[in-house]
Amino acid sequence: MSSTNEIETTIGNVLLSEGDIQNRVRELGRELAAEYDGKNPILVNILKGGFIFLADLVRAMNVHCEMDFMVVSSYEDRTESSGVVRILSDLGLNIEGRHVLIVEDIVDTGLTLEYIRELLLARNPASLKVVTLLDKHEKRVVSVPIEFTGFQIPDEFVVGYGLDYAQRFRNLPYITVLSEDDPMLLEGREVETR
Ligand code: IMP
Ligand code: MG
Repeated sequence: MSSTNEIETTIGNVLLSEGDIQNRVRELGRELAAEYDGKNPILVNILKGGFIFLADLVRAMNVHCEMDFMVVSSYEDRTESSGVVRILSDLGLNIEGRHVLIVEDIVDTGLTLEYIRELLLARNPASLKVVTLLDKHEKRVVSVPIEFTGFQIPDEFVVGYGLDYAQRFRNLPYITVLSEDDPMLLEGREVETR
């Protein structure tokens, strides 16, 4: 039975299939499990975009770990991230003396990640590293260390697997490119993207 609310067709041009993502996330999980064996790290997930990646990643990491969440928002001008980051919800756990791994969906300009790194470093963790599923390296404006990357991707606007356009498409199991003239983008262009 289909309804008008169902996503019936593949949306956009698929960049990473569900299988591509699952294989890479499993590899990252094994790599991170080796890195953090015996260290009981705190995985800091940046919401909202990172929630699906975290959920799959931790199930591929066969080590004890803890998780916490931070909700951030940046004020955007019409085309670029402004670098002004607002913390809408902070961590509940104390990270002082702990091994911390930031779990991001995508690093674009790097401004959001740089801000979060500085904020967390000021709390004196034992170590602070970053895993991002996607790296749009062509767009970087600040150099920020990223220790673990799922995929380098071209400078295209992508949605799916947690990433949204105007809060939609996060639930697609694949990652896909929405083109500028896609009718689905005509409403709400350049609104909140996280
Ligand atoms: P940055 O500060 O420019 O690195 O911004 C990164 C944030 O912008 C990500 O956490 C996403 O929320 C959002 N973002 C950047 N590129 C995309 C994209 O292609 N699709 C969806 N969200 C994106
Ligand atoms: Mg994000």
